[in-house]
Amino acid sequence: MEATPATPAVRLDGVSKRYADSYAVRDVHLDIEAGEFFSLLGPSGCGKTTSLRMIGGFTDPTEGAVLLGGEDVTALPPNKRNVNTVFQSYALFDHLSIADNIAFGLKRKGVDKAEIRRRVGEMLELVQLSGQSRRKPGTLSGGQRQRVALARALVNRPAVLLLDEPLAALDLKLRRQMQVELKQIQREVGITFVFVTHDQDEALTMSDRVAVMNEGRVEQCGTPEDVYEHPASRFVASFMGTSNLMAGTYRDGAVLLDEGPALSVGHRDDVGEGTSVSVSVRPEKIWLSDFEPGMEVLRGVIRETVYSGPTTTYLIELAPGVTLSVLEQNTARARMEDRWIGGETVEFGWRPEHCLVLS
Ligand SMILES: Nc1ncnc2c1ncn2[C@@H]1O[C@H](COP(=O)(O)OP(=O)(O)O)[C@@H](O)[C@H]1O
Ligand SMILES: [Mg+2]
Repeated sequence: MEATPATPAVRLDGVSKRYADSYAVRDVHLDIEAGEFFSLLGPSGCGKTTSLRMIGGFTDPTEGAVLLGGEDVTALPPNKRNVNTVFQSYALFDHLSIADNIAFGLKRKGVDKAEIRRRVGEMLELVQLSGQSRRKPGTLSGGQRQRVALARALVNRPAVLLLDEPLAALDLKLRRQMQVELKQIQREVGITFVFVTHDQDEALTMSDRVAVMNEGRVEQCGTPEDVYEHPASRFVASFMGTSNLMAGTYRDGAVLLDEGPALSVGHRDDVGEGTSVSVSVRPEKIWLSDFEPGMEVLRGVIRETVYSGPTTTYLIELAPGVTLSVLEQNTARARMEDRWIGGETVEFGWRPEHCLVLS
């Protein structure tokens, strides 16, 4: 079948992988569109690598089918799939120059010399290593080695590139820089990237869409904004940043907290009367002054003030055992002397739409 814009670049159709009596991946359904930067995000052991390996053909699913560009490739070996993989370990050949590392696959396929030179040149330019082509991988920094590994995978012009935590070994500053670069490269080449990470910031920063995985299943799939602003479950809310989860019981448009007051959440058709739920309000959605009509406004005691440069975080105790994190930007207009100190009783509040009810 010919791949058209409507045909997903990758489809996982009810895919499971079972080892002995436990599932590494369980009944995953995913469509990844052509040209997308798509991330599989979740804690260690949730099944990200196994999912990626099933797309690449390195692991056979126990159930379900893998489709690439509309074609069922479940039974095909890795080299018969139009897919390349960048591993975290880079797996470069240390005795070969950068250029020869990148050319390696093309030479083996018998591509002619002029064509190889042209494509390797293109790749060196893409990853900004044009001046370094004769150097050996051992003399490169971690970030440069990562770029060589990327160039070596992209030079084959795969329909899909699989990347398994490719930035995990880099220090934070370099990782942030590579995140931006990798995203730019992906846009430039237009190849579908399936990117595995356990780092929620990384997934939010880089992806067009994210699948959040937990215990072998996809809990939610959507744009970074979808999964952050509208988490579908307690797990997604707590995995994606600080979420101020508060346990309580839903009744008549309000949640009566196990410890603390009743919070007004509006009527929910999807939540039964008397159901145990969690309420979540993101730290940056909580106001400390200038409240508007219609807001939920509460009182609490400042337990901690944590200054971290551009932001200050307050830990506010709403009730015994219920402490909320509140984030304020230290903008030019915010006056340092107005910051709260420990022990003070303060008012804080949020707009009703920022108070999420999760089960
Ligand atoms: N070859 C294997 N044999 C047995 N169990 C495995 C194997 N590979 C992975 N698993 C198990 O499957 C689960 C998911 O692993 P993995 O896909 O590597 O997770 P992640 O990449 O999200 O950290 C883990 O519990 C892991 O121990
Ligand atoms: Mg893994």
